[in-house]
Amino acid sequence: MSAMMLLLLLCLSLGTISVVHCGDPTIFFDWNVSYGTLSPLGTPQQVILINGQFPGPNINSTTNNNVVVNVFNNLDDPFLLTWSGIQQRKNSWQDGTLGTMCPIPPGKNFTYQFQVKDQIGSFIYYPSTAMHRAGGAFGGLRINSRNLIPVPYDTPEDDYTVLIGDWYKKSHTDLKKQLDGGRSMARPDGVLINGKDAKGDGKDEPLFTMKAGKTYKFRICNVGLKSSLNFRIQEHWMTLVEMEGSHTVQNTYQSLDVHLGQCMAVLVTADKDPKDYYIVASTRFTKTVLTGKGILRYEGGKGPADPELPEAPEGWAWSLNQFRSFRWNLTASAARPNPQGSYHYGKINITRTLKLVNAATQVDGKLRYSINGVSHVDPETPLKLAEYYGVADKVFKADTIKDDPPADVDTKAIIQPNVVNQTHRDFVEIIFENHEKSLQTWHVSGYAVFAVGIEPGLWTPEKRSTYNLLDAVSRHTIQVYPKSWAAIMTAFDNPGMWNIRSEHPERRYLGQQLYVTVPNIARSTRDEYNMPDSALLCGIVKDMPKPPPPYSIA
Ligand SMILES: *[C@@H]1O[C@H](CO)[C@@H](O)[C@H](O)[C@H]1NC(C)=O
Ligand SMILES: *[C@@H]1O[C@H](CO)[C@@H](O)[C@H](O)[C@H]1NC(C)=O
Ligand SMILES: *[C@@H]1O[C@H](CO)[C@@H](O)[C@H](O)[C@H]1NC(C)=O
Ligand SMILES: *[C@@H]1O[C@H](CO)[C@@H](O)[C@H](O)[C@H]1NC(C)=O
Ligand SMILES: *[C@@H]1O[C@H](CO)[C@@H](O)[C@H](O)[C@H]1NC(C)=O
Ligand SMILES: *[C@@H]1O[C@H](CO)[C@@H](O)[C@H](O)[C@H]1NC(C)=O
Repeated sequence: MSAMMLLLLLCLSLGTISVVHCGDPTIFFDWNVSYGTLSPLGTPQQVILINGQFPGPNINSTTNNNVVVNVFNNLDDPFLLTWSGIQQRKNSWQDGTLGTMCPIPPGKNFTYQFQVKDQIGSFIYYPSTAMHRAGGAFGGLRINSRNLIPVPYDTPEDDYTVLIGDWYKKSHTDLKKQLDGGRSMARPDGVLINGKDAKGDGKDEPLFTMKAGKTYKFRICNVGLKSSLNFRIQEHWMTLVEMEGSHTVQNTYQSLDVHLGQCMAVLVTADKDPKDYYIVASTRFTKTVLTGKGILRYEGGKGPADPELPEAPEGWAWSLNQFRSFRWNLTASAARPNPQGSYHYGKINITRTLKLVNAATQVDGKLRYSINGVSHVDPETPLKLAEYYGVADKVFKADTIKDDPPADVDTKAIIQPNVVNQTHRDFVEIIFENHEKSLQTWHVSGYAVFAVGIEPGLWTPEKRSTYNLLDAVSRHTIQVYPKSWAAIMTAFDNPGMWNIRSEHPERRYLGQQLYVTVPNIARSTRDEYNMPDSALLCGIVKDMPKPPPPYSIA
């Protein structure tokens, strides 16, 4: 690939690139984001391409690589990409949300520079602006283990990224108009696997091929807009090995529920009759089930895939049981040469409990989605920049929501920036309580979190007795079933401005997100970088003199 080079940066060249680290290899990408026309569901529609591709290119990186992506915005809208699950240590400057960065203006470019520090696993990137995610520009981001770190399974024959997601025939601009008009998005029109849905007429090209007898890794991520999806492969069992950055206990599954924004990596062995098989992704918890499929082919195999697709499980109790079966492999190595389970999260005292309740409400006759009675809106000046320039008080007020939701949380909301102030290094429990009839999925930026529990009903402190305090998977998303709660725990040890958002793009767009500001109390670059020189400026800081770097160089 011409757009990508691999080289070792020497310490000497550090002057120009502020956040790139000596000795660790750097991978470079030039990405051209533009509109195009494709017919993923049979009728032509506008999509968003990266270098002409839909979905966008895969980023194939290794732990501690520096990733440099020069994004040229050839859309007619301001645009940002976010790297979901990349922890951006000390570096919320590159997280790619409107609370941390000014969007890239149309016709301009911006170069993201970040390190995939101490991480392994399967992730995705996607647009965080407007409803661009409904047009495309999403893709896979994998972080391979370094050679010297043992991985708890044999190297697979190949490593495939499977992006599954529901899809609308309406363009992202039409969907946005609908939401701006105060109406929810209707049902999606289909399900795509890597941008396609096989016709089943015998002429479909395979999405993936396998050699008989060999074992392959599939990284399955839900890049969709509304639906949880059940993923399965005809006649083949899947061994779960990794989830959003953690090696898991290797259970085998016939099918997996993958909720919005989630990724799971499985091993599949080609040990069946050499022929074609369907891989299937179908919507869960919906009256009308939409199904997408693609061909998995045995090399040299003979015979088409059986048109009869394997059945999906029903109901959400099945899904909850499956969640309970996901366990962290405590003895597997992390990205560094220490066992994953050497950090005993279950023994740490909780210093704060944040209980977040989602709701769908009407504000001035229009649909809004809220958290604890606040429906977030992005100010023109990114929150992070406002803080850095010392003008936060002109842009937002922190802690307008309380740690406990108000009594009228299900019916009332106000529209304003939603920012929570969080002391550096505190160990915090976050409860997501869902009073609605639909499933929710949440994402936390800047951190991996322990997904310690999901249960039906309302949360009370006594429910802590149900938590998995031993081997819950450390990840960055969690789903919450209808009329249920979910609990996560994490140490806020990464100063910056971090987004907690609904992974349902329409909910995020209409306010169901908040930011956690974790101040760099020590004011040292040991904990957080100064703003990079390359940062785009907008809003009230655009013409302000740049403050002298406030954090002393560690
Ligand atoms: C980017 O894409 C646009 C639209 O397809 C095209 O006009 C332009 O030449 C491309 N730029 C580069 C640098 O490839
Ligand atoms: C991804 O990177 C790994 C490690 O450098 C390499 O072995 C593999 O061939 C790469 N795969 C692709 C598809 O580029
Ligand atoms: C825009 O792209 C040009 C050409 O690659 C590069 O020299 C420049 O640094 C980029 N600008 C930003 C702000 O990233
Ligand atoms: C966990 O990882 C260890 C160490 O790599 C491996 O030997 C073991 O098989 C894994 N355990 C399970 C249950 O997957
Ligand atoms: C946790 O809290 C308990 C009870 O308040 C206290 O006895 C214990 O020392 C605390 N542990 C730590 C590690 O702070
Ligand atoms: C957050 O709290 C810290 C410590 O109390 C304070 O210095 C800072 O101004 C607060 N930030 C905001 C945005 O209110």
